[in-house]
Amino acid sequence: MAEQSAGRGPAIICAGLAKTFGSGPAAVEAVAPLELTFGAGELTALVGPSGCGKSTVLRMVAGLEAPSAGAVTLDGAAPADLQGAGELAMAFQDASLLPWRSVRGNVALALKLARRPVDLAAVDAMIARVGLAGFEGARPAELSGGMRQRAAIARCLVTQPRVLLLDEPFGAVDELTRARLNADLPALWRAQGTTALLVTHSVREAVALADRIIVFSSRPAQVVADLPVPDAVSPDTADGRALMAQVTEALSQGWDDDAAAGRHAAQ
Ligand SMILES: Nc1ncnc2c1ncn2[C@@H]1O[C@H](COP(=O)(O)OP(=O)(O)O)[C@@H](O)[C@H]1O
Ligand SMILES: [Mg+2]
Repeated sequence: MAEQSAGRGPAIICAGLAKTFGSGPAAVEAVAPLELTFGAGELTALVGPSGCGKSTVLRMVAGLEAPSAGAVTLDGAAPADLQGAGELAMAFQDASLLPWRSVRGNVALALKLARRPVDLAAVDAMIARVGLAGFEGARPAELSGGMRQRAAIARCLVTQPRVLLLDEPFGAVDELTRARLNADLPALWRAQGTTALLVTHSVREAVALADRIIVFSSRPAQVVADLPVPDAVSPDTADGRALMAQVTEALSQGWDDDAAAGRHAAQ
């Protein structure tokens, strides 16, 4: 593939980053002031209880949500600067493809939005790399959930972003497809030195993919564990199993039973 990469991903610094939704008695503190640096070119997994503020953190890093306090900087730049240049891409759980456009049309759109030349050969090459060769002309409704996720990932990667934000991207996919995606896709962004954040519910996925795992507490999100994942560690090694146990333990420590009970009662 043509090397038009803008280069290695930036370090991402969250300084006093906080978010409260609403005000007064109804205010929801989603993220308490966070001090976190995500390493350049690293993949950091974020795990934590449902509703603890993970997506809010990602949306602030993407520049889609304004912080209530503090700031996110990417090698000193604001999220909007990278977003505008097509250097930052985000994928959500619901693949959010445009239903009236083909796979090729959806992937090409990312280049258009980034004001890059639309090179259809590069678009098709990326579609092939996520395993969708032959489906370039298909509309999202004609694809399975796993295929839609892969199309969304192709759309993210086609601009060769320096920052990749994945919010439970494989959440809607069956275990087998998920395992295949996990085996195939990371090579696509690792080679480019992309800085990536991955929100996942799967401790196994975090250990398999990440260089580092951050465990958040119940809302408001605060760091309860910050664990490096050495290169040689995978979920099927003894070290990997020990690490998975450590993450699971940190998750249960950070779980606020009262808050969980309250949330449950409110549903
Ligand atoms: N736009 C919003 N308006 C009001 N509350 C929100 C909004 N987005 C998220 N929240 C609340 O903030 C908290 C954290 O949400 P979120 O970041 O989506 O959690 P997670 O991704 O960890 O499940 C939740 O209580 C959620 O209801
Ligand atoms: Mg979320």
